[in-house]
Amino acid sequence: MAIRNIVTIDDPVLRKKSRPVVNFDEKLWTLLDDMKETLKKADGAGLAAVQVGILRRAVIVDVGDGKPLELINPEIVETSGEQEGQEGCLSLPGEWGVVRRPEFVRVRAQNRKGQWCMYKGEGLKARCFCHEIDHLDGIVFTDRAKRMLTDEELRRLNKEE
Ligand code: CO
Repeated sequence: MAIRNIVTIDDPVLRKKSRPVVNFDEKLWTLLDDMKETLKKADGAGLAAVQVGILRRAVIVDVGDGKPLELINPEIVETSGEQEGQEGCLSLPGEWGVVRRPEFVRVRAQNRKGQWCMYKGEGLKARCFCHEIDHLDGIVFTDRAKRMLTDEELRRLNKEE
């Protein structure tokens, strides 16, 4: 496994649409393993393949409630409720915004063997599913943010951590 470089928002690749994964082979497994390691080291909750420069529809979600999830060709199939909260992104270090997301999300995705599985998440996990799946269509959270946090709010947030 290897740590990959996380691209930042000035890289136009983040605005591109990712293509479906078609080959469930060793090359994909290496990518997924590297993404998991990269996400862990960056101490984030989610990472999309495009963030390591690979335009394929694969994401890792790890909200600390068990094993990290590998979602390949994920699709949101159901949403309900609403939440509003702070959101950031490993590709926009130091920037936080207030983003409205569904409170509950159901996702259909393939695993690394190509089998279709269902996943559900509420709260932070639901937020994460939406955020990462947005990346696959070139959307970043600042596109959806109601507003960005002010310097004063960021200072307060950093103090809490
Ligand atoms: Co992100």
